[in-house]
Amino acid sequence: MTPQELMAEAGKARRASYSPYSKFAVGAALLTASGKVVHGCNVENSSFGLACCAERTAVFKAVSEGERDFVAVAVTAGRGHGAAPCGACRQVLFEFAPRMWVYYRDGRGRIVRRKLDALLADGFMLRPRRGGK
Ligand code: THU
Repeated sequence: MTPQELMAEAGKARRASYSPYSKFAVGAALLTASGKVVHGCNVENSSFGLACCAERTAVFKAVSEGERDFVAVAVTAGRGHGAAPCGACRQVLFEFAPRMWVYYRDGRGRIVRRKLDALLADGFMLRPRRGGK
């Protein structure tokens, strides 16, 4: 799947955004090693600080369905907006796939391609305990 194709999936995911407070709709599409595409959108709340970004929605959906092996993620806030993933989402993605690709649009609408560990240098990682989940 090309970055453009995954970005088109992110655009579809964005349609479900619940963002009445910021009016900033974001979509994410996560590609797994098994070839599945998992959609996520931002979900806001009357208690503003509880908003969840599109990328984290996609990760939590995927992991809860048994998918942890991520190849790439595309993020879009629409063609007119640059939307690089926030630091919290970088760390959440890093937990599962530090070397995955991240695609997002710059301010001119061009697709930027970066490896996650370039966007998040020295991301935090606890070594999971043996026998842990
Ligand atoms: N947002 C995302 O969905 N992803 C990001 O990487 C940055 C921000 C959302 C959160 C909130 O609903 C809106 O964009 C404005 O911050």
